[in-house]
Amino acid sequence: MSQITVTGGKPLVGRVDIKGAKNLVTKAMVAALLGHSASVLKDVPKISDVEVVSRLLQLHGVLITHDEDGVMHLDPSNVESARMVDIDAHAGSSRIPILFCGPLLHRLGEAFIPDLGGCHIGDRPIDFHLEVLRNFGAVIEKLPNGTRLSAPEGLKGAKVSLPYPSVGATEQVLLTSVLAEGITELSGAAIEPEIMDLIAILQKMGAVISVDTDRVIRVEGVERLEGYTHRALFDRNEAASWAAAALATQGDIFVGGARQPEMMTFLNVFRKVGGAFEIEDDGIRFYHPGGELNPVVIETDVHPGFMTDWQQPLVVALTQAKGLSIVHETVYENRFGFTDALNDMGAQIQIYRECLGGTPCRFGQRNFYHSAVISGPTALKAADIRVPDLRGGFSHMVAALAAEGTSNVSNVQLISRGYEHFLDKLAALGADFSYTE
Ligand code: EPU
Repeated sequence: MSQITVTGGKPLVGRVDIKGAKNLVTKAMVAALLGHSASVLKDVPKISDVEVVSRLLQLHGVLITHDEDGVMHLDPSNVESARMVDIDAHAGSSRIPILFCGPLLHRLGEAFIPDLGGCHIGDRPIDFHLEVLRNFGAVIEKLPNGTRLSAPEGLKGAKVSLPYPSVGATEQVLLTSVLAEGITELSGAAIEPEIMDLIAILQKMGAVISVDTDRVIRVEGVERLEGYTHRALFDRNEAASWAAAALATQGDIFVGGARQPEMMTFLNVFRKVGGAFEIEDDGIRFYHPGGELNPVVIETDVHPGFMTDWQQPLVVALTQAKGLSIVHETVYENRFGFTDALNDMGAQIQIYRECLGGTPCRFGQRNFYHSAVISGPTALKAADIRVPDLRGGFSHMVAALAAEGTSNVSNVQLISRGYEHFLDKLAALGADFSYTE
């Protein structure tokens, strides 16, 4: 089990360069399955989620090669069924396999999907995905070790309505509808920038997709798609994470590759908390300008709201703001587990079942601790912590870097699911740490 021993209390200062978004790159890789020719994806980060998807694609006959740093070639000329036992070896390692369903049904007429993994931040059911696939004509059979799908009559365009604008279910509709016969109309779609980038990729491949107002996406199925060449959208979750790290450690971090348009909502909150930023052509500088930080009241939401993935790193910075901050998490029912460790380090964070925000959410009046009140500023002290999930783990690292004293953070390999060269970046920012495998 990998562990970092970190001596905190030192501002993080320097530059980190980020690549494509984990939450786009992995889906773009799956999209390559739909093409009749090879695709080229640029700015692919070396993270374990990309490795898992690469292995699953390779099991299905996709030839994957790399020529220079971050450039991936995916050749789907020989897509074939994989052995269930090989697929099953990847059970629990990622959530992306569910997105293989549509492309594999189109290419092979059948699909077997292992049981899913991903961060433990809520139940994370796949009911929307399965319902969507049934609408297209898929027949679904749950097996003890995964899910088997077939499409005896082919996949046909459908009118689909999502009860919640789920990112994954919207991607499911996109990846299934582009080659389905006829028209698909999706209402209640998620419209995150990563989804727009996936739509751009599919358009390059030959798909016909329009995004209307009010979360409606229309797709006219086509008979054939080719490969694409595409530079992935930057990882705005990683950019926001380093921004929060700069604030929490009173540091100054230039995030190369970050762009303003996809981060506007984050930038507003960052400024309200008291952080400063400068937008350059090649990235954004985030820094603590000195003085006190301010408390804020935020609700996480689907785009264009404040992303749930930004909440966890920001909470660490909010422990240093003067007064009471409130964070209402409306996307996942269980994303405040990471606050226990912060409280052990001296933070004062209380979590509540009530919706402590302007908008009552799906989780109100139920048994979910989905609102947090953070009282600050509190000095953070070193502790021994175990990383619970990707973003929570990053937050724990930031807390350890901000805290006085020496902390031991274990299970840190989880952070490499979503942050490329994490340790190298920490070193470049002047962090004082040692790493044991
Ligand atoms: N949901 C259902 N049923 C479904 C699908 C989703 O009830 O069939 C619920 C979920 O339980 C959750 C909500 O809908 O409460 C939103 O889930 P969504 O489907 O939007 O999330 P996802 O596609 O599983 C992606 C990212 C997450 C990110 C969310 C929200 C990937 C691989 N993951 O998850 O990223 O938080 O969208 O933007 O793209 C992360 O990067 O740390 C991360 C968790």
